[in-house]
Amino acid sequence: MAVDYTTRDGIAVITLNNPPVNGLGFSTRLGIVEGVEKAQADASVKAIVLIGAGKAFSGGADITEFNTPKATQEPTLHTVIKVVESSAKPVVAAIHSVAMGGGLELALGAHYRIASAGAQIALPEVKLGLLPGAGGTQRLPRAVGLETALNMIVSGAPVMSEKLAGSGLFDQMAEGDLLDEAVKFAKKVGAQGGALPKVRDRKIDHPNAEGFIQFARNMVTPMAKNFPAPLKCIDAVAAGVKLGFDQGLAVERECFMALVQTPESRALRHAFFGERAASKIPDVPSNTPVRKIERVGVIGAGTMGGGIAMNFINAGLPVTLLETKQEALDRGLATIRKNYESAVKKGRLTAEKLEERLALITPTLSYDDLKDADLIVEAVFEELGVKEQVFSKLDQVAKKGAILASNTSTLDVDKIAAFTRRPEDVVGMHFFSPANVMKLLEVVRGAKTSKDVLATVMQLARKIRKTAVVSGVCDGFIGNRMIEQYLRQALFMLEEGALPAQVDRAIEKFGFAMGPFRMSDLAGNDIGWAIRKRRYQEKPDLKYSKIADRLCETGRFGQKTGAGWYDYKAGDRAAHPSKIVDEMIVGYSKEHGIERRKIADEEIVERLVLALVNEGALILEEGIASKASDIDMVYLTGYGFPLHRGGPMLYADTIGLYNVERAMRKYAAQTNGDAWKPAARVTELAAQSRGFNS
Ligand code: NAI
Repeated sequence: MAVDYTTRDGIAVITLNNPPVNGLGFSTRLGIVEGVEKAQADASVKAIVLIGAGKAFSGGADITEFNTPKATQEPTLHTVIKVVESSAKPVVAAIHSVAMGGGLELALGAHYRIASAGAQIALPEVKLGLLPGAGGTQRLPRAVGLETALNMIVSGAPVMSEKLAGSGLFDQMAEGDLLDEAVKFAKKVGAQGGALPKVRDRKIDHPNAEGFIQFARNMVTPMAKNFPAPLKCIDAVAAGVKLGFDQGLAVERECFMALVQTPESRALRHAFFGERAASKIPDVPSNTPVRKIERVGVIGAGTMGGGIAMNFINAGLPVTLLETKQEALDRGLATIRKNYESAVKKGRLTAEKLEERLALITPTLSYDDLKDADLIVEAVFEELGVKEQVFSKLDQVAKKGAILASNTSTLDVDKIAAFTRRPEDVVGMHFFSPANVMKLLEVVRGAKTSKDVLATVMQLARKIRKTAVVSGVCDGFIGNRMIEQYLRQALFMLEEGALPAQVDRAIEKFGFAMGPFRMSDLAGNDIGWAIRKRRYQEKPDLKYSKIADRLCETGRFGQKTGAGWYDYKAGDRAAHPSKIVDEMIVGYSKEHGIERRKIADEEIVERLVLALVNEGALILEEGIASKASDIDMVYLTGYGFPLHRGGPMLYADTIGLYNVERAMRKYAAQTNGDAWKPAARVTELAAQSRGFNS
């Protein structure tokens, strides 16, 4: 049973006991109802205390029941709250640590609330594109006042219980043992008699409620461009203010039902669960033992190595940073210092912390200093020969059981592993630039990488606050392999009739952080050029527009050369459409006998996104990614894919794979057909009316 029932001095104590956070799953809900009923039936019981065991009062809905019939099975949370609120004997909610979402709504249904300091109080539903659907939008304003409640509901952010001490939410703050004080309080109110106070009966007191609600709407509207939930939260609260509790509750229900159906909420929930699911690897059980990681080595103090080192020292792990030359080491350290100094300037770090962090780095030119490292991450030049030197050296000096990771973005991790006599200890840790900022970490699983190495790296990723996604070995892994198809389409569209600014504008309007051409200018057009040159050798049949090569031949490598697809002014990152480049593009089409046509923004978006989808489907077919949500997490956290669309694979599900496949066939007939052979997975799922995530 997820609820314990005991009595103490004439008080029934109902303890939620559903670790880790007393989620309000079916058996918890049932247990609360049964407990309240048992207390009614027992004449010796004068009042009831509702409390949570372990780490929370209650964290709200039980996420393991999401999307299962149990989530809506009676007694629902509505019923539970009704039972609590209409109990003939007073119910005292005793709150510690966490009262969130449904947990807080449950507490608001009690007649009294007593809380310890340090408890996080929140209605975070808005973060999943929803609103509190069990009376939260109605009771919280009546408990803490309109302004505080609206802030909490619209932001979803937690507020500490002590901050709410005087707000009317709590009848008492517990100074000592919460249960002792709650029982004492319950005895007092149990002896009082008379009508029991209900939050629902309170008035919402505000000198100008309508004015404030309008103000809130004005504030939220621009921020809520792609997210309908915050405004619906305001609608529900406003209804309660204007129409009273019961009608407010009905509006809350309507708004909740409307939000559940929105693609935006689906996307946010997908991302929330996708993040958790990514850390689970199908054939690596969650109880796989992990290796201890206490000391880290980083090889190469360049762009990536420096950022990678920062991740570890930010998490308090000492790092030995190795370079071949003192100058390179000094340069790398200076860059790290500069990064921290800019954080100090922005007030995000104290000068003291800066020194503390830097003190965690031991710079070295000698491999001997790596002999104690539990994990060594290599970030040297992207050449197999250099990787070979490094890994065979590591094989000699690293201690037994040390994890040897490569940050390579294009090389074969299995080949790198074969430079050692311990391929089971070798893994890819593909960070994204800037490595100290970007959330994504692709964990590349080699053919021989051992399960405990994977489990360790996934756990470590959490510690350094990365979203880790496992990828099999293939060229480009998940993210870059897909982006290549997206970029190919972008280039085809230039020769067919579009210009860089139009392509970027269309996809940015769709919600991407940055269109393909601004992105290439930022990353350096020479990088793509190098990859294409390799492709022309490896896959001579693969069609590629040569239009970007033409650009590179003129030395326009992007922001770093002051010119790329766009023009740049010194000291300014703003991209200005370039007359020279646009003329070059038009000329290129002419030379190649391509009649330029107007390409609609819808076509631009469809071709770019579906190129990702089709490659994603192949990645699933080949088992490079183990689930569609992993691909979506890569795109949401590493490539600026719009969060409200949930990633390319979920987006495909949203339009429906039948339509996805039809669009692919249309483009196959129209142009550059080789890119548009629908992956077998797409055809299969379309035929079954299923989606990647169903
Ligand atoms: P970088 O050129 O900025 O830094 C490489 C550093 O390694 C240099 O400081 C160099 O002195 C040092 N180095 C070279 N050979 C060495 C050796 N034998 N021993 C010790 N140090 C050595 O290069 P970057 O951009 O940091 O790339 C490093 C690795 O990270 C490459 O494998 C690259 O493919 C990968 N990567 C790069 C990304 C990027 O956006 N720059 C993104 C993800 C991965």
